[in-house]
Amino acid sequence: MASASLFKSSLVLDKSEFVKGQPLLRQHSVSVRFHPSALSVRASYADELVKTAKTVASPGRGILAMDESNATCGKRLASIGLENTEANRQAYRTLLVTAPGLGQYISGAILFEETLYQSTVDGKKIVDILVEQNIVPGIKVDKGLVPLAGSNNESWCQGLDGLASRSAAYYQQGARFAKWRTVVSIPNGPSALAVKEAAWGLARYAAISQDNGLVPIVEPEILLDGEHAIERTFEVAQQVWAEVFFYLAENNVLFEGILLKPSMVTPGAESKDKATPDKVADLTLTLLKRRIPPSVPGIMFLSGGQSEVEATLNLNAMNQAPNPWHVSFSYARALQNTCLKTWGGRPENVKAAQDALLLRAKSNSLAQLGKYTGEGESEEAKKELFVKGYSY
Ligand code: 13P
Repeated sequence: MASASLFKSSLVLDKSEFVKGQPLLRQHSVSVRFHPSALSVRASYADELVKTAKTVASPGRGILAMDESNATCGKRLASIGLENTEANRQAYRTLLVTAPGLGQYISGAILFEETLYQSTVDGKKIVDILVEQNIVPGIKVDKGLVPLAGSNNESWCQGLDGLASRSAAYYQQGARFAKWRTVVSIPNGPSALAVKEAAWGLARYAAISQDNGLVPIVEPEILLDGEHAIERTFEVAQQVWAEVFFYLAENNVLFEGILLKPSMVTPGAESKDKATPDKVADLTLTLLKRRIPPSVPGIMFLSGGQSEVEATLNLNAMNQAPNPWHVSFSYARALQNTCLKTWGGRPENVKAAQDALLLRAKSNSLAQLGKYTGEGESEEAKKELFVKGYSY
């Protein structure tokens, strides 16, 4: 059992003892305390990480995921007939971050690297606009998915090489949290190898992020692809989250300073069965209660191809009773779809598009508080957004 006396007798080493002759990435020191039965690595950023995570997981607010890579942003722009130029990406991202009062519903925005260093069309830094809106800037740090050799056509997520120095630079640029999205495919297995690789990669990324002051969003997306029943998703999710938390603990990740981004437990998108919001909420919360410690401050769901309204209804159903963690959203498609269509690349539609974004953000804010009624939603917002084999 840990006690003050045990702690005192622990050997205390400063990180500099390990890195003699190597440049330190930052000035903060990290103390590593050894005891025969315990090892705990404590980043000097611990207090800040806890504070950042709590701010992002604040009541009635969630995350706007706007971290589409340039290639994915190109697909979005193509859907409204626009070319994938830097100017068009900048115009769209300016529209999103300058929506008046967005910070009332949105606590964090995940950016792609280009946007972290980008200015609005009026020349103001996007990061500064976010901070003015009371929104914490975040950054996608993974380098995308590639085939996992030796698996059943599954993938793994790249990006650990150079991550520490990139993370330090992102912190300097104003980012305070990070995102790493890896995926698990049910129709392709998932193989034990793919689950282990996904969990290990997430844990290494989480440790590196915390060491550099960024709250890691841990996102093992269980893809909606497939014809399987909801029970199969539940079974796979239990396996995935067990491994993720095993490796997070093994990597000495501070649970109070992380956020999770799970998929909701639903039937496969190609299943003939559909699940009600109550059923989705019931199985998703059962899963989370079995696997996620209450020290984790926030569960910020991805939308994964659900329609805008479906994602909001499911979130609302999960917030009908108090939960051990803040249960909220980190949607990309389910926040942006109607907004993007409404804009259509036309300057005269910017205000209407921002209103559409604000409406979705407000609906999800209400759902976070368990108070969404689903009234007055457009047909566009009810359209399923699932794309088979979708790559982000
Ligand atoms: P969706 O909500 O579109 O599934 O996006 C998830 C995501 O990881 C974006 O950061």
